[in-house]
Amino acid sequence: MSGVCFIQLTTVVVLLLSLSSAVWSCPPSDRAALLAFKAALKEPYLGIFNSWTGTDCCHKWYGVSCDQETRRVADINLRGESEEPIFNKAHRTGYMTGYISPAICKLTRLSSFTIADWKGISGEIPRCISYLPFLRIIDLVGNKISGTIPPEIGRLQRLTVLNVADNLISGTIPVSLANLTSLMHLDIRNNYISGPIPRSIGRLRMLSRALLSGNRLSGVIPDSISRIYRLADLDLSRNRIYGPIPESLGKMAVLATLNLDLNKISGQIPISLLNSGISDLNLSRNSLEGNIPNAFSARSYFTALDLSYNNLKGSIPKSISSASYVGHLDLSHNHLCGQIPVGSPFDHLEASSFVYNDCLCGKPLKAC
Ligand SMILES: *[C@@H]1O[C@H](CO)[C@@H](O)[C@H](O)[C@H]1NC(C)=O
Ligand SMILES: *[C@@H]1O[C@H](CO)[C@@H](O)[C@H](O)[C@H]1NC(C)=O
Repeated sequence: MSGVCFIQLTTVVVLLLSLSSAVWSCPPSDRAALLAFKAALKEPYLGIFNSWTGTDCCHKWYGVSCDQETRRVADINLRGESEEPIFNKAHRTGYMTGYISPAICKLTRLSSFTIADWKGISGEIPRCISYLPFLRIIDLVGNKISGTIPPEIGRLQRLTVLNVADNLISGTIPVSLANLTSLMHLDIRNNYISGPIPRSIGRLRMLSRALLSGNRLSGVIPDSISRIYRLADLDLSRNRIYGPIPESLGKMAVLATLNLDLNKISGQIPISLLNSGISDLNLSRNSLEGNIPNAFSARSYFTALDLSYNNLKGSIPKSISSASYVGHLDLSHNHLCGQIPVGSPFDHLEASSFVYNDCLCGKPLKAC
């Protein structure tokens, strides 16, 4: 009797053990995809891939994590700049060469794909990445990735973060990007991306940060941007953008930072910009002309207002004294003339805010 019981018990234990190991190990196909991904990369200093051994890729593989329920690989999170012990022990930041293998596209449950700040990873973004339906995060910042943003990127209906900044990416912004209706954070800074900003960008209703600076973007600023009502930070600086600043940008609900510096923007400064929620406004080094609108009010609160290196003329508007705050002001290198207003926003400003104009006078410059 007790013998039968024992046999039954051991059967149950063996069954449980095999079940739990099945629950805990990743599917062999995911493991094979990870190993193919690893084989295309070379990380000579830290040994982050040394942990990528054994059958269970969900367990203690550095930077890999799996979905609790499906046990499929859900996240690859490899950052070359980190405070983790493996970096402290090596006393250095990460460096990795090689390329991103298209084998990652076999990880069909991948939700987050971060291979950031490794400085040396080259090659292109595998085009098949656009066919990973669960992808929420693509973060490839700080490598040497070339090629283009995959043209079918707009298929990624769940994508919230697209960060490919600080790489060598060229080509244009794909039209399909406007189909990324979950996108909250777009960062393509410091690449070689050219062509216009698609007019359809206004469809990205969830977008809160659009950082496009340091590329070769041309064309005009699409009016439709002002329909992105969650947009808080718009950086189009250091491009080849021309045409006027849409008046509608000054009417956006939460826009706080607007950087348009170092472009070929012309026309006048829209009245709306000076009397909006924007607190960080850089229009420096463009071809803006006309007067600075006399449109400041108590609503105007600027931590930084940089209008330097344009063709602005006339006087500094009196209403600027009624702004609630002007922290940093740069009006230098224009054609302004007349008395510098007095008042609390101006008391702390130095001459450098006003130099290289036609005939400005008064404190902190010489008396009129
Ligand atoms: C955007 O999505 C719509 C609907 O899903 C589709 O018909 C259209 O072709 C897509 N546009 C691009 C450029 O991918
Ligand atoms: C504004 O942009 C110019 C040109 O890119 C830059 O030199 C300057 O530091 C910026 N101003 C502020 C206040 O950040």
